[in-house]
Formats: sequence, structure tokens, C-alpha cells
Amino acid sequence: MTGIWPFVPSNAPTSLAHAKGSYLYLQNGKKILDAAGGAVVANVGHGRREVADAIHAATLNATYVVPPWLTPEREALVHELREHWLPEHLPCVHLCSGGSEGNESAIKIAVQYQTAIGQPQRRLILARQLSYHGTTISMAGLSGHASRKRGLESILEQPPYIQTPYPLRCPLGPHHPDACDYYLQDLEDTIERLGPENIAALIAEPINGSSGGAITPPQGYWQRAQRILNRHGILLIMDEVMTGFGRTGVAFGSQLYGVEPDLLVAGKGLAGGYAAVAGVFGRADIAQAIATAGFNVMFHTFGALPQSCAAATAVLKILREEDLVARSASLGQTTVARLRSAFGQHPNVAEIRGAGMLIGIEIVKDRDTLERFDASARITEQLSQAAMDAGVFFYPGGTGEYRDVLCIGAPFIIGEPEIDLMERALGAALASLP
Ligand SMILES: Cc1ncc(COP(=O)(O)O)c(C=O)c1O
Repeated sequence: MTGIWPFVPSNAPTSLAHAKGSYLYLQNGKKILDAAGGAVVANVGHGRREVADAIHAATLNATYVVPPWLTPEREALVHELREHWLPEHLPCVHLCSGGSEGNESAIKIAVQYQTAIGQPQRRLILARQLSYHGTTISMAGLSGHASRKRGLESILEQPPYIQTPYPLRCPLGPHHPDACDYYLQDLEDTIERLGPENIAALIAEPINGSSGGAITPPQGYWQRAQRILNRHGILLIMDEVMTGFGRTGVAFGSQLYGVEPDLLVAGKGLAGGYAAVAGVFGRADIAQAIATAGFNVMFHTFGALPQSCAAATAVLKILREEDLVARSASLGQTTVARLRSAFGQHPNVAEIRGAGMLIGIEIVKDRDTLERFDASARITEQLSQAAMDAGVFFYPGGTGEYRDVLCIGAPFIIGEPEIDLMERALGAALASLP
């Protein structure tokens, strides 16, 4: 297939034969641990029969039904979400086919809401300098992700950016005690400069995902940021496409910080990779204001596909019945502790961080100054390849500007043997550094 797949020709792509549990089996006979969970998606592992059976049954029940109609599969998913997953203040559900669509829908909902309540001049969306929200033209524009915008700069709108809290690289100094105040001041100053009356919403990940490598904000940041936003009538859209549904060891990453987003978007783990589905979850008064104004929240043709809803319900049940969210939390703690003890003082390891099964390992040229390797050295690529040679697929992170990062987004079903394997592969990858 070289030259035929993918669209942009590359060296021979990795060819997979099949996958089971936490492992990928390549056509060349190699067995690889899927420590990336694909693109930080697979949470219950590959090849669960009960999910395949649920998709099969939904396909036979009704193959395609327009999204506004209710089907048994849609009803069951909304029930599962409301009963067991969603924060109480977010009962309304809009389903799309992926994270980019979900974030776009959330922004449209935020602007429609502001218009509905008599604030049509609120047309600005605040975003963050280091972030990823998707690949459609408007989401690529919002994202603070240089390498994914290359060649598109001429058509992408640049939003107003605030700084992403990045304790290791806080301009006041690494993990400075005033880091939280520093980043909140940046939020306040940006709002002041733009005029709060012009801003509809802030979109942000609670923990920065793979763009920065599981960067966690200073404690207190989110609660105080939300108070600032509330004071100015600015909605908080939490992009939990990567952090949602147990990835960080709790249902949603925002819950780690006691923050209550007005709109929450989650994708990837919602169906664990078994189907293309993402959700926008919102406050009832937001939905009601849009309804009263007579606006429509338009659907995508394949939004809320019954098969996808059935897959999501089956995956969410597995997560609950096998207590996998708690397992994500404890696996995360064990993995971080093990990797820190093995590599925490390595001269090229700046930080090992994250929450639950979302872990980032930041690699630098010099641990003391935090100087990065030159971009031309393509260190992340080199590390990923060395780890693959050692039998582990880590997710390569970073934005090109912010580098070099390896991410772990393994299924929540891994155990000690897989943690051993990740430790060995990371050791092999680090040993390959210049
Ligand atoms: C935080 C975040 N938001 C949005 C997206 C885009 O989601 P999708 O690729 O499903 O469109 C991603 C994908 O990696 C993501 O990590």
C-alpha cells in the first residue's frame, strides 16, 4: 500500500493485522503494546464482543434514522449518560461524530445562547496559546497548534489567545508559587483588553492533552478562572474530548478541579474507539433560551447514529461494571511513580506528569535550563520509533513549537506486565537520544 495510503505519501505505513485487548498485532508479526490507546481513545481495550454485539443488533434494528428522532439506542445512551456520568447541571445532550464537530457545535450553541439572551455582540471566542480543538477550518483556527496549521495560515482566523497554564515553564520560574495568579492575571487582562461585552465563551481543555503532554494547571486555577468568566457573562466550554469518560481517573477532568463548565464536549472515550461519536453536554437553561428564541441546533447527517449510540452505551456500561475509571486513576498513579523513580532524574527528562491514564513525558536537551532540542532533530519522532522497536506505541505529542513529548493514553485494562513494558521501552527510547 506504500504511496496509496495515507493521502500524503510517507514511508511505508505501519500495517496492522488485528488488535486484541491492549495489544496491536502487525502484519510483520510484531506484537505492540497500544500504550497510546490509538489517539488516546481505546479505554476498554480492543475487540470486546459485547460492544460488537450491541452494534450488530442496532444495525439490524434500524440502519439509519434522522438524528432528531428518538430511537431505543439514543434513549438508552441518554439514560446511561444522565444516570451515571453527566454532572447534574448538564442534562442536555447533542451528539456528533467526533471532537471537532462537537467543539464547533458547542461554540455555535454558546453564540446562539448569547444572542438569545440579548447579547448578539458577544462574538469573540477566547482560546489558548497551547491547545488542540480539532481539524475543521474553524477548530484548526482556534487551536494553538502550529504544526497542524501549516499551509493553512492564509485562511485560518486567529482567535484571541490567553496563556495556557504551564507550571513547568511559568515565566516566573518553574512551578513558581505565584503561577496561578500569573495566569489568572493574563486571563483578566485579555478580557479587559477585548471588552468583556464582546466575548461569548472561553474554550479550553481542563488538562492540556497531547498538544503539550498532559499539562495540569496549578491548583485553584480553574475555580478562580470560572469566577472571573461568570462575573463577565462569558461561558466556559470545556473541551474534554480527550479527558472525558474516565481518562483522567474521574468521569470528567473538570471534576478534578471542582469546576462546572457551562458546556462540556467529550468524544474519544465515549465509545472507546468502537464508533465515531462525541457529545456536547449543556445546561438546561442554555437549551431553553435557544428554543425560546426559535433557533435550531442543526444536526450532522451521521450524528447520533443508532449504532454509535449502542456502542457508546455498551462501552460506558463496561467502564462502570468493571470499575475501570477508578482503575484508570490507580494505574496512572502507579505508572507515574514507576516512571519517575526510573527516569525522574534523567538528564533529558524535564517532567513526568498527568492524571489517570493521561500521562506526558517532556524531553529536553538540558534538564536544568529546560532548553529544548532543535526542532530539526525531530526528537519526538525518534523516541516514538525507538519505543516501537521496543514493542510499545506511545502517542507523540507537542505542537512543533512546544516539544518534545511522549504521551501515554493506554486502555484502563493494562496491568503490571504492561507497566514493566512501558518502562523498558521508555528506557530504550531515552537511550537513543543524542
Ligand atoms: C482535546 C481535543 N479536542 C478536540 C479534538 C478533535 O477531535 P476529533 O479528532 O475527534 O475531531 C481532539 C483530538 O485529538 C482533542 O484531543
